[in-house]
Amino acid sequence: MHVVHITAELAPLAKVGGLGDVVTGLARAVAQRGHIVETILPFYECIDKAQIENLRHECDIDVPKGFQFDGKLSIENVKTSIHRGTISGCEVILIRPESQNSQHIFKGGAIYGGGYNEIEAYLYLCRSALEYLKTYQNSPSIIHLHEWQTSAASMLYWDVYHEEGLLQDARVVLTIHNMDNPGECRAEEFEASGISGETYMDIDKAMDERTIGHNPERMSLLKGGIIYSNAVTTVSPSYARETLEGGAAGWLGTILAANREKYHGILNGIDTVLWDPARDANLPCDFTEETCIEAKAALKKYVQTGLGLEVNPDKPLIICVSRLVPQKGLHLIRHAIDRTAEWGGQFVLLGSGHGGGDFQGLAEGEYKDHPDIRLLIMYNETLSHLLFAASDITLVPSLFEPCGLTQMCAMRYGSLPLVRRTGGLADTVVDVDSKEGGNAGSDQLFGNGYVFDGVSEGELDGALRRALDAFKGRRGWWSSMQQKVMGLDWSWSQPAAGYVDVYRAARK
Ligand code: ADP
Ligand code: GLC
Repeated sequence: MHVVHITAELAPLAKVGGLGDVVTGLARAVAQRGHIVETILPFYECIDKAQIENLRHECDIDVPKGFQFDGKLSIENVKTSIHRGTISGCEVILIRPESQNSQHIFKGGAIYGGGYNEIEAYLYLCRSALEYLKTYQNSPSIIHLHEWQTSAASMLYWDVYHEEGLLQDARVVLTIHNMDNPGECRAEEFEASGISGETYMDIDKAMDERTIGHNPERMSLLKGGIIYSNAVTTVSPSYARETLEGGAAGWLGTILAANREKYHGILNGIDTVLWDPARDANLPCDFTEETCIEAKAALKKYVQTGLGLEVNPDKPLIICVSRLVPQKGLHLIRHAIDRTAEWGGQFVLLGSGHGGGDFQGLAEGEYKDHPDIRLLIMYNETLSHLLFAASDITLVPSLFEPCGLTQMCAMRYGSLPLVRRTGGLADTVVDVDSKEGGNAGSDQLFGNGYVFDGVSEGELDGALRRALDAFKGRRGWWSSMQQKVMGLDWSWSQPAAGYVDVYRAARK
């Protein structure tokens, strides 16, 4: 098969969170299974071009883009340059607007939150990607979309290209990584795609195939993606269930339920080449299951020293690597920091994003020079590897978590996860003290961490207390657990097979 991803993120080139990691890991794993895989993404101004191998200009195309003139939809062509290269073994196609009136798109120092309108920018991306495929390629077998940003490509594909007899052989798959943002858009805004949005707005026919109006004023691009794609996936079986039955998708739950037969939950993998403690350039020393006890002790000392924490092998080191947004359970992170220090442990937070403000204040105020607490409010890939490798416990207390990658990275580096039971966290971590967890066996389902249920500080305390007590009182058992979790397989091999099945089913 020939698979073309269209995405807003691709790690490490353009990454904000797990979306970027997942597209890279999946693309590479499916390519390794013998398929042709290409990924189309914006040529953001902030991209570090040095990371792209064999970067070259491939062609220029004209992309139709709509605007309002005299109260009517007018179309102009945006001259667009297409570039190609390779990143982490993935073939990438980068799209950049060149016409003067569209040059603001994808400009700025960050991927999101820059100076451009994201609806306009991503509708333009969807249209450019399809224009490029139409002009320069045979029809791919699968067009794989991600999140609201590229959902509109499903609508454009069926209503414009397929309708006109173009790219006939393709089927469309949408992966939803997070239902938090339904991609709301006014009908006029949709015109940036080059077609009118009015046709999609008839909300009296709310469940009609061609209607993605969500309220009288707005449509939801994610809803459009769900309706127009041949298959829809999300990133863990539990999140798929929670969005269908547990209200986790909000009003989109009804739309998912109506499309239940084509909706699947496939657990993400992690990139086991990038996340490989035996070959990790980010670490001062490598380690394997056999050498992890001594190596992790050395790495803990290295990190304690480097961060100016008390150097003490007997203090459990707890870390959290996270975007600082409400989804991630900010009040629980805040609480765990205090409790860990109070109960004789050390806590390091590596956090990035808008919600970081309060933590920044704490880092500069209350916790400044604290012997057991460091709050590092920044995005730093190398530090994240170091922290997983040096730590004893990784905290992921999310209020909801479609999949979550950090608990898997943690295990790969011998750090036991302490998580809230939700979404992908529930699918990857089994409590060591639960009935199934106590049954330590060799399969993936042995107890491999600590799990709590509620959203209250008290419930987190229970799991934290058990983890700290076990670390202090059962050191031999703790070491054996670290070795065991390192041996778990979180690679893309199984998930990629799941996606290939979805691709095949979509083509039937
Ligand atoms: P989400 O996509 O919701 O942010 P995931 O757990 O799926 O959550 O993915 C987050 C990814 O981003 C992981 O690879 C994690 O290591 C990385 N990450 C998050 N915050 C930081 C940070 N401050 N510094 C470095 N890496 C980070
Ligand atoms: C989203 C989710 C996260 C998931 C990631 C990759 O950002 O918040 O749970 O792991 O996408 O699919």
